[in-house]
Amino acid sequence: MMQETYYSWIFKRKSSRKFIQEGLKEERIQSILEAMEGLTPLESDIKTEIKIMDADSMKGLLAIKAPHYVLIYSEEKPNNLENAGFLLQQVDLMLSAMGIGSCWLGLGKPTEKAVGKDGMNYVIALAIGPTAEPVHRQSTTEFKRKKREEIYRGNHFSSVVEALRLAPSATNSQPWFLVEEENNLHAFCVKKGKLKAMFYEEINRIDMGIGLCHLWLAGLAEGYEVHLFRERAEKEPTLPNYEYTYSASFKKNK
Ligand SMILES: Cc1cc2nc3c(=O)[nH]c(=O)nc-3n(C[C@H](O)[C@H](O)[C@H](O)COP(=O)(O)O)c2cc1C
Repeated sequence: MMQETYYSWIFKRKSSRKFIQEGLKEERIQSILEAMEGLTPLESDIKTEIKIMDADSMKGLLAIKAPHYVLIYSEEKPNNLENAGFLLQQVDLMLSAMGIGSCWLGLGKPTEKAVGKDGMNYVIALAIGPTAEPVHRQSTTEFKRKKREEIYRGNHFSSVVEALRLAPSATNSQPWFLVEEENNLHAFCVKKGKLKAMFYEEINRIDMGIGLCHLWLAGLAEGYEVHLFRERAEKEPTLPNYEYTYSASFKKNK
């Protein structure tokens, strides 16, 4: 993947929800499929499959109606949801770069023809297609997001954190918080009460993967070697109401 080219779309992308139902030309679908071969996983030992399917692959009263959906399937393994978020956010940015509308779709279920197989389960989808409206923002002031100080404790990685700050998340909940420690950023995810946890716990893990994708792309764009890893132990000192997820280390390329 040409990571540098996707980085700039972090600052312009937005969710599109009004699709032209005729759909994309076959060549456009082919070029998305080709570009998807170059995606980078967060966890290379988790088997996944990403497919582009037609309008009849998703159902649900609240599901966004689109001419195509990009569905991701994964084997059940620790960190599989973070990995799915990380992968599909690359597709979201790629589509933005191609001028194609997209929106993450948590409120939807695959129809019979789109359920998983070969030991892999459906995780989540993007609704995609041509739109009647612009698919880009003109300025970062159009993003409705938390302020940097609400999601970051540190002072050396502000521009890298800015990319994560702008990342999309389910219901725009922005569950992340970053703690700087030397050349590392430790990523924490907000803990929900019992009732909210039923809905949010899984989707927040996808959100974290999306945020890590932006963090990674920003680090690469700034000339760092970026290593993403999950430490075994809970990071100390733990933030109240947050739990540790992943860390990113940044090393300047010589
Ligand atoms: C994991 C995930 C699931 C989402 N599910 C839906 C959904 O079901 N329906 C919808 O309209 N938007 C959905 N969204 C889009 C978010 O509401 C949107 O990304 C957020 O409000 C930020 O807006 P932006 O993407 O335009 O920057 C989802 C986003 C994420 C990351």
